[in-house]
Amino acid sequence: MTDYPVNMGVKPEVKAFFDEATNTISYVVKDPESRACAVIDSVMDIDMAAGRITYAHADAMIAHVMDHGLTLEWIIETHVHADHLSAAPYIQQKLGGKIGIGEKILVVQDTFGKIFNEGTEFQRDGSQFDALFKDGDTYKVGQMNCLAIHTPGHTPACMVHVMGDAAFVGDTLFMPDGGSARADFPGGDAGELYDSIQRVLRLPDDMRLFMCHDYGPNGRDIQWETTVGAERAHNIHVGGGKTREDFVKFRTERDAQLAMPRLILPSLQVNMRAGELPRDSAGNPMLKLPVNRL
Ligand SMILES: [Fe+2]
Repeated sequence: MTDYPVNMGVKPEVKAFFDEATNTISYVVKDPESRACAVIDSVMDIDMAAGRITYAHADAMIAHVMDHGLTLEWIIETHVHADHLSAAPYIQQKLGGKIGIGEKILVVQDTFGKIFNEGTEFQRDGSQFDALFKDGDTYKVGQMNCLAIHTPGHTPACMVHVMGDAAFVGDTLFMPDGGSARADFPGGDAGELYDSIQRVLRLPDDMRLFMCHDYGPNGRDIQWETTVGAERAHNIHVGGGKTREDFVKFRTERDAQLAMPRLILPSLQVNMRAGELPRDSAGNPMLKLPVNRL
């Protein structure tokens, strides 16, 4: 039984774009009944040593949309990513579409607004985005009904987006042999993550699940697609009926040993602004490096 109305009869075409630099998978999702599409979790390239921003990954997605004559309606962020920078504004400038994220972005903006000592010009009201989704909100990509499910735990603003028989899980889950994402960032909570994962696992067994990340555990090739049934049966952190108590203990101990993601500092500053680079008083793009704050 699911908490939400879903239509497994609608089967969107899903094109994946894997980013080797950050192990992120971005998607173009096409409505089967029209030319409409959505982009999920795009990536902007950064060379940290040089402070250089480029767009090879985003350009490949843009070329796909244009080559297939698609109309981009939505640019979805499943959450404020800490390991890669979003290319949402760059893609929007080229193709249009609305940028959407979970309404709890306000919590994330408040938390990291303090850590990065942002001034009053940084609005903490989510106004950098075109749409803020609440749990259970629906929207359309062409004729296809889409649904946003609030799945906090990894971060407060995480959402899973269901489009027909496909769900884009962000960092709520990894592939069954990858388990789950960390829950120790500011605002994260392992117990909440367990509860959120249970909501995803109540979706129909044969719903397709698309990951935001894969690291090829134990040397296997990179993969990004599985099903609810496979996760429920085999996920190494939550599958096979593992309890909330077991998960919280395991996740908390594991997280205490993890280093910060390589790109967390630039990622948060950009992604909490919907993918826009912060600017200095002269209007030039400029990133900060807060010392001993994370
Ligand atoms: Fe993440």
